[in-house]
Amino acid sequence: MKIAVVGTGYVGLVTGTCLAETGNTVTCVDINEEKVKMMQAFKLPIYEPGLDLLFHRNIEQGRLKFTTNLADAISDAQIIYLALPTPPDGDGAADLSYVLGAAKDIAKLIKEYKVIVTKSTVPVGTADKVIKVFKDNTSVEVDVVSNPEFLREGVAVEDFMKPDRVVVGTESVRAQKLMAELYGPYVRQGNPIIFMDARSSELTKYAANSFLATKITFMNEIANLCELVGADVDAVRKGIGSDDRIGKRFLFPGVGYGGSCFPKDVQALAHSARENKYDFKILESVMEVNDIQRKVLVEKMRKYYDGQLKGKKIAIWGLAFKPETDDIREAPALYIIEELLKDGAIISAFDPEAMSNVKKVVGDKIHFGDNQYDILKDADALVIVTEWSVFRTPDFDRVGTLLKSKVIFDGRNLYDLQKMIDCGYYYNSIGRKT
Ligand code: UGA
Repeated sequence: MKIAVVGTGYVGLVTGTCLAETGNTVTCVDINEEKVKMMQAFKLPIYEPGLDLLFHRNIEQGRLKFTTNLADAISDAQIIYLALPTPPDGDGAADLSYVLGAAKDIAKLIKEYKVIVTKSTVPVGTADKVIKVFKDNTSVEVDVVSNPEFLREGVAVEDFMKPDRVVVGTESVRAQKLMAELYGPYVRQGNPIIFMDARSSELTKYAANSFLATKITFMNEIANLCELVGADVDAVRKGIGSDDRIGKRFLFPGVGYGGSCFPKDVQALAHSARENKYDFKILESVMEVNDIQRKVLVEKMRKYYDGQLKGKKIAIWGLAFKPETDDIREAPALYIIEELLKDGAIISAFDPEAMSNVKKVVGDKIHFGDNQYDILKDADALVIVTEWSVFRTPDFDRVGTLLKSKVIFDGRNLYDLQKMIDCGYYYNSIGRKT
């Protein structure tokens, strides 16, 4: 099939590349000339495991192209994906100006039937708004399909190539058939393509992300309670996760959820509930608890140092909002750094991929190391914020020798409690004994 993808952000780029991988011809279009030039020169603008290989292969084999020219990109495309940003506006509502703007530009260019797919996370009712834009700007027939994306950063290629499910929101049988044909290769193992109306599909995306954010937040609160009652959250997690109805995944407590999706989507769903005069109490609490959880490590440190963090040398392992990405959007590390700097701490940090992005935000207010050990020299404490694999089994003798005091605050529960005691560390993690 011939496909155009408008917007080469995270979702657009992964979608375009993965659609090319099953033999479709895909043209990705973006207004950012510099970025398009970069991709035309075989350079990926993001770090995502496994994407590089597919990206190169499909460009080389002529199935994946990049352009800034919308007319060229869509002229012979049967399906046009809208993968544009929907950032929160001042009220936390999703800003639809990019999506609707692109729809208008496309409407003015098309000459024959197209399926327009919204891949961006958009509030309920957006498909109707997109349909209206087409009605107002062209007499050419289109079907507008809501097709939310459920991929996770870090495992995006795998998630796209083998999705648990594909949600397709349209009542047009013609569009349903085309979408079923397109996604057939991705659901060969028998995972479903679930057809529904566009509004339900749009809400499915927000409900999924908000549910997962709620699940994590619930565990963060259980962890906080564990510390007060002397229980171990790891045990509780395993104890409840073995119940199929609860499930083992997304039960890991930590320093709050971050990233470009959960915070934005929970906010947008809460906003949409408020707009519809529904008081979505759980979501309001989830946001409140997450704000507190992001600073839980700082509070632990303040307590440990009796509020005297001024001049303390703190080494941080992990800056990205999660492992296997260089993405720092809403990363808990940024909140932690901000608080520690306010208290006058001296920070050095290491992250395998995200340091250059953090540098753009904090400049030279913190020091960045070349590797995870360099930054430990003479530090008063090590703080673990992101659970990169390289931090899982460090050389504890080396860590202990480099640190001024053997103190670790671990926001991701990476190490065995007994082992840390045996190695002579003061080890403070989340929801476990100290
Ligand atoms: C999330 C969803 O998982 C995807 O299904 C969805 O497609 C995506 O948002 C999106 O809307 O685009 P992502 O933001 O890449 O994916 O990251 P997750 O792996 O879901 O992690 C989100 C946050 O939750 C991270 O800060 C992570 O550290 C945190 N988390 C996750 C926990 O604190 N505990 C857990 O058990 C799991």
